Amino acid sequence: MDPKKVIICRCEDVTLEDVRRAIEQGYTSWDQIKRALRVGMGPCGGKTCRILVLRELAQKLGVSIDEVKTRPTVVRPPLRATPMKVFAKEGK
Ligand code: FES
Repeated sequence: MDPKKVIICRCEDVTLEDVRRAIEQGYTSWDQIKRALRVGMGPCGGKTCRILVLRELAQKLGVSIDEVKTRPTVVRPPLRATPMKVFAKEGK
């Protein structure tokens, strides 16, 4: 399978090739790869792509997936657009 065509993060359009290149450049944690490629910053908040990136990272580094999972990370809830009428009703 061509890594250029394998989408890892569909929200941010990041391919397997992008992730592999980042790891080869020295990014060794979820947070580092997230900052470099924007994986996990889409509407799903990384629900789909995080485990795929962690799996690739573990494989490339030759460590267990549990080891890369336990590296410090920041998980934030996804943001959604809020219509102004929601705030207007609260102001009445
Ligand atoms: S698939 Fe990566 S943020 Fe949604």
